[in-house]
Amino acid sequence: MGFVSAGGLLCTALILTTLRPCIAEEPRSPPNKIGLSPRSPSNSLVGIYNGEQFVFQESEWFLINVIKMLWQYGLNFLRMYMWVEDIMHKFMRIYRYQTFEYSFSSTESLLHAMGGRDFTAFLNTTISETLEKAGFSHRFIEEIVTPAMRVNYLQGVKINSFVGAVSLAGTDSGLWSVEGGNKLVCTGLLYASNANLIRGTVTSVQEKTRSLKSGDTLKFYEVNSETDNGSQQVLYDIVIIAAPLNKGLSSIKFLNFDPPIETFFKPYQQTVTTFIHGQLNASFFGCPEPCSNELSDILTTDNPNLFINSIRAVSPVKSTGEDASKSTDLKVWRVFSPEPLTKDQLHLLFKSYHAVSSKTWLAYPRYNPPEKMPPIILHNRIYYINSIEWAASAMEMSAVSAKNVALLSHHRWYGKDQKIDQENISEKLKSEL
Ligand SMILES: *[C@@H]1O[C@H](CO)[C@@H](O)[C@H](O)[C@H]1NC(C)=O
Ligand SMILES: *[C@@H]1O[C@H](CO)[C@@H](O)[C@H](O)[C@H]1NC(C)=O
Ligand SMILES: *[C@@H]1O[C@H](CO)[C@@H](O)[C@H](O)[C@H]1NC(C)=O
Ligand SMILES: *[C@@H]1O[C@H](CO)[C@@H](O)[C@H](O)[C@H]1NC(C)=O
Repeated sequence: MGFVSAGGLLCTALILTTLRPCIAEEPRSPPNKIGLSPRSPSNSLVGIYNGEQFVFQESEWFLINVIKMLWQYGLNFLRMYMWVEDIMHKFMRIYRYQTFEYSFSSTESLLHAMGGRDFTAFLNTTISETLEKAGFSHRFIEEIVTPAMRVNYLQGVKINSFVGAVSLAGTDSGLWSVEGGNKLVCTGLLYASNANLIRGTVTSVQEKTRSLKSGDTLKFYEVNSETDNGSQQVLYDIVIIAAPLNKGLSSIKFLNFDPPIETFFKPYQQTVTTFIHGQLNASFFGCPEPCSNELSDILTTDNPNLFINSIRAVSPVKSTGEDASKSTDLKVWRVFSPEPLTKDQLHLLFKSYHAVSSKTWLAYPRYNPPEKMPPIILHNRIYYINSIEWAASAMEMSAVSAKNVALLSHHRWYGKDQKIDQENISEKLKSEL
């Protein structure tokens, strides 16, 4: 058996310490088998800008925030908290199922085991439809939910309800990041797994048949890759793909499969992350100089005139003891936008700046419900972890899917059908205990 690391998307996603949601289990007791520690979050105050003015601004005073929230949105915040809690509670079931080695042969079946028909129906509706039906106010959806979707997935409230819920869970204060950078999760896990890593680019996968002396035949997958030492072919029993196979994103060819292995055509969302060292132009955000508000984390509503989705003062991935977002007049800002920022746009956003670095990437699917999940099983023993991205793209989702594929491939190899796609697992666990 072998593990094929076919692409760096996951790790690229981790390098940019973004606001991408992780439904963190318990912030105070992070898993520490690979020697990582949590980094204390910086306490920046959020402002929500609608293209003309701030529709909501967080204060340093807890009580003022509560009064503002109640005044502007009634009980919507409290109900949102309860709504998200309920979904998280169901989501957490997967960890128990996986502890008892249950696995699922499709993403739909995995979601169904967590949250029943409610969860699979989430794939068919937009988050705005679902929240309106649940009684949330139009104003709350526009001014609070939309900005959260725009910063996490660069898309508005037309994304499917499941990714919408994950995105809202990501606004919870329980989120934490890893001291030294979230990318250490990738290197740490790789090291801990004792895998034999071949650094290279996979170009093709092909099924090969070998005859044995006994007259029997055995089937393998031949994985071809380009490495620094030239091209390589290695035979494997099981192949696991952990990179999006969508057209334009993947260079892996599946040769001579009958029927052919599907190509996926649905698009990914382009996200431009720009880091700028400079001085923010507060009057661009309608704040006269000198600006009385501490602007350090600005989210936006859905206004077509806005060329940015969010801007935030960021701190280094290593703690320095002080909150870098407050330390000097010149901060490092991180902007998310759908298109690269032009010089003119930078001159609008900043009074002055002296360093700019940007990265354009296809960060997550462009969601458009009803959403059909790509298969997890692409061929007898070829598995696809990224299927789950179409329910919701997040580090934690990838980890859940990877564990599911590890269990599923093992159970199918050893014929343990009673651990695959079982109904009513909760009840089975009650009787097992
Ligand atoms: C979602 O929509 C698909 C068709 O797009 C349908 O087959 C499926 O039953 C729907 N699921 C739910 C839970 O409503
Ligand atoms: C290339 O060959 C060297 C020497 O055999 C080996 O140490 C290294 O791991 C190889 N690199 C790859 C990417 O296979
Ligand atoms: C700052 O923002 C204001 C208002 O949008 C704009 O007129 C001005 O050109 C911007 N740039 C600077 C450097 O002040
Ligand atoms: C699962 O549980 C429900 C309700 O408890 C029951 O109606 C259904 O028959 C069960 N399904 C299976 C496959 O045991």
